[in-house]
Amino acid sequence: MNQSWTRHHILSLANFSEVEYDTVLQTASSFREVLSHGTKKVPPLQGQVVANLFFEPSTRTRSSFELSAKRLSADILNFTPGSSSLSKGETILDTAKTYLAMGADIMVIRHKQAGVPAAIAREMDRLQTGVSILNAGDGQHEHPSQALLDLFTICSFLDSDRPRLEVLKGKKIAIVGDILHSRVARSNIWSLSAAGVDLHLAGPPTLLPEYFADMGNVTLHWHLEPALQDADFVMTLRLQKERMTSNLLPSLREYHQRYGITRDRLKICHPDVGILHPGPVNRGVELSSDLMDDPRLSLISQQVTSGVAIRMALLYLLGTRK
Ligand code: NCD
Repeated sequence: MNQSWTRHHILSLANFSEVEYDTVLQTASSFREVLSHGTKKVPPLQGQVVANLFFEPSTRTRSSFELSAKRLSADILNFTPGSSSLSKGETILDTAKTYLAMGADIMVIRHKQAGVPAAIAREMDRLQTGVSILNAGDGQHEHPSQALLDLFTICSFLDSDRPRLEVLKGKKIAIVGDILHSRVARSNIWSLSAAGVDLHLAGPPTLLPEYFADMGNVTLHWHLEPALQDADFVMTLRLQKERMTSNLLPSLREYHQRYGITRDRLKICHPDVGILHPGPVNRGVELSSDLMDDPRLSLISQQVTSGVAIRMALLYLLGTRK
């Protein structure tokens, strides 16, 4: 039993404590250590059922949660809306209750509407089910497991033996791109602010509204260069074309010219700068194709690997909570 973890659902990082961040990082680090020795599976969630309810398309997040649950020896149920009773008119809450009746202990939920995981969590609590809800991305609101895996990747880059919040204090991080539509940016703003990072947001004014300055200690830039100057990490974000309802950009080519990350532009960053992107990437738009494939600069594949250790940690902490 895990004595120190008390949070029942992981819906947002807005009110995560430093102790919680460090517990997640430390737990993920132990799982990474175990897996690095060739152990493929560990037993802590044996007999528990994890339901992956992805009402919106996903490649890496869904597969990453599935693999994490399997590595913890849980049984996993996968739901995909196209082939489900949703197309017959079933409500989302009824879908969740169907998985509850099958004995789900943890539900991992992604939905295009902000607030759906929280609404299901409230219903599960009202019914006193004991089921934990993990938000795997809700609309433009939050994507906590992505920000935690970003945090784990960055902290591990700075101290691979003991990744912890403290190593990020005073580091400069630039988040660049479509901040407006990004749940990844919102969750990262909470975690990186909590770590005491010197946080800079950059993007075109149509994709970086001024109200982001209210989220805490962040500096906004509508020009890229001041955000990149001496940056230790640059986090690029996908242009979320599917969420753009009006013409927010002149053209992808012009976007790349003004905000795309290229080798040349990185010259003003810290010499050991690391580049992140949550994926999927629009190659040649958010960042140049050659940078994406450069293992000295790109941390993108480490992010994917970190994702498994972080999601194992989150499922473990929820599943073994006292
Ligand atoms: C992100 C998402 O879905 O919010 N991707 C992911 O989870 N790996 C970012 C995106 O879609 O651009």
